[in-house]
Amino acid sequence: MRQRFRIQPSTRVEGHIGVPGDKSVSHRALMLGAIAEGTSHVTGFLPGEDCLATMAAVRAMGIEVVQHDATTIDVAGQGLQGLRAAGRALDMGNSGTAMRLFMGLLAAQPFATELFGDASLSRRPMERVAEPLRRMGARVDTTNGTPPVRIAGGSKLRGISFDMPVASAQVKSAVLLAGLYAGGETSVSEPAVTRDHTERMLARLGYPVQRSGSTVTIAGGGRLVGGPIAVPGDLSSAAFMVLAGCLASAGELVVDRVGLNPTRTGILRILELMGADLRIEESPGGVGEPVGRLIVRPCRLRGIDVPPELVPLAIDEFPVIFVAAALAGGETVVRGASELRHKETDRIRVMADGLRTLGIEVEELPDGARIRGGRFRSGTVDSAGDHRVAMSFAVGASRAEGPVTILDTANVATSYPGFAAEARGIGLDVVVTGDE
Ligand code: S3P
Repeated sequence: MRQRFRIQPSTRVEGHIGVPGDKSVSHRALMLGAIAEGTSHVTGFLPGEDCLATMAAVRAMGIEVVQHDATTIDVAGQGLQGLRAAGRALDMGNSGTAMRLFMGLLAAQPFATELFGDASLSRRPMERVAEPLRRMGARVDTTNGTPPVRIAGGSKLRGISFDMPVASAQVKSAVLLAGLYAGGETSVSEPAVTRDHTERMLARLGYPVQRSGSTVTIAGGGRLVGGPIAVPGDLSSAAFMVLAGCLASAGELVVDRVGLNPTRTGILRILELMGADLRIEESPGGVGEPVGRLIVRPCRLRGIDVPPELVPLAIDEFPVIFVAAALAGGETVVRGASELRHKETDRIRVMADGLRTLGIEVEELPDGARIRGGRFRSGTVDSAGDHRVAMSFAVGASRAEGPVTILDTANVATSYPGFAAEARGIGLDVVVTGDE
């Protein structure tokens, strides 16, 4: 039997927790650490399956990564020219970030690489990265637009000015990583603000990055110098617990040392617009990435029209937002979020199906949804193997009229190993059954 969650209703959410390290920052710590000169000591690393796929790939290309404990690693960087051919195709697992960022990083290497992934990743669009890389002179082939991806290697790249058609931090990062190896300047302009972890980490490791309005520019041929990298807690993981704290009828939840990068905090702004009782305390001294603590108390959420400019700043949190909307008073409308159809699953479709199964009225729109708030009834929801869908329904199910089962939950380990135990620790009744 595949892994599933079984959730019984509960009312109180309380505790003082941290959340696992940020997935986006952990991937970048490995990749940029690998091409820096000298060792990068990384603390707070996320030992989730996605980042472990990146770790395995970096090691396969000759980089020594010493894991002192689950979350503390040393990456022995060999400089921009230090990667070696892996001698085999590299498995990116479920991770779109790993695949897209490696496409950029590997486009200019002197060796060829093949990248593949699991069934979900094998359906996701890769031409959005391949196309600008080809414009830079790389030879990159996708399989009808999707993985496996083959990079010929040995190409001499030239800088480009790229007007990114979709707001995607992965595409931006891939082009910038290729730009490290390109002749001249590489600029990326984004149609809306996306997460800037790559730019921040490049700058932190000593690589000059210019930002002007919505454009980021780097010049090829510089160097990165390894150093300490403190990975903050993942706000995208904290979001499930914050939702639990909002939906509870008693208690108070504190989430400590969580990343508060303003390109990621859309979820907090959206929950606040919905009436969440949320205190955000930024701590002084966050290096590279702002960090702080969140204090959440129960509240009555209300439906809103989600402001379109907040969509890219909350792009991974829409499963959480859909559940919040389903249990809020009144109607919530999400528009301008068609990118959700290209995540680990088509998140508009999978969330709408799951919400309907639990008795919620949802109108699916091409680029979002219209959700009428109500109450979850008992039932069985298929997460379709999407980690964030599974965790969002698990939290919402704590407020259902009766028990809820969520199917196909093993992929929660891609981003939040230990989620069910942590959820039980703050008062939710989540039991894991089937294969781990
Ligand atoms: C990520 C960027 C986002 C996000 C993903 C991680 C990153 O994807 O959904 O989980 O680390 O750059 P897009 O940039 O494609 O929207």
